Amino acid sequence: MTSPAKDQKEAPSLTPDFEAKADELISHYPASRRSAALPLLHLWQETFGFVSGRGIEWIAAKLAIEPIRILELVTFYPMFRQAPIGRRHIRVCRTLSCALAGARELHAELCRRTGASGDPHAPLTSPDGEYTIEFVECLASCGTAPVAMADDRLIERANLPEKIEACLSHRD
Ligand code: FES
Repeated sequence: MTSPAKDQKEAPSLTPDFEAKADELISHYPASRRSAALPLLHLWQETFGFVSGRGIEWIAAKLAIEPIRILELVTFYPMFRQAPIGRRHIRVCRTLSCALAGARELHAELCRRTGASGDPHAPLTSPDGEYTIEFVECLASCGTAPVAMADDRLIERANLPEKIEACLSHRD
């Protein structure tokens, strides 16, 4: 997982190390450079925290394809982000079991507690940049709904008061 500090901003320029990693990934696909698009997107996001327009342009140029082809991948796959996220990332499941068990209210409470506001269908980041709250689809724990993921921790029955605290607390 990326460190919080480097989640926030892209580096001003690409380092030789980054370029070398990209070239190494591309070398795995000698028959079709464009097949390296997804690995390059992962590399970009792991390095800079999100995939910016600059990232899309750079990857497209590197693979000699139209930027729209890279943008299509970024918008199709939910693991790619187009904006920076907070140092803490809380995902709230909104699929049926969790929706019926109060996912929307849980999301609203987390937003209220952190000050994150805006369109609930988009990732919402608190004004201090500490938290990003985001609806996601099924987290594969439907029997303990509503469910959230606080960074890499699964929080079951997450609308209980102590579980909301657990969502917001740091691991250590
Ligand atoms: S519906 Fe929420 S974990 Fe499956």
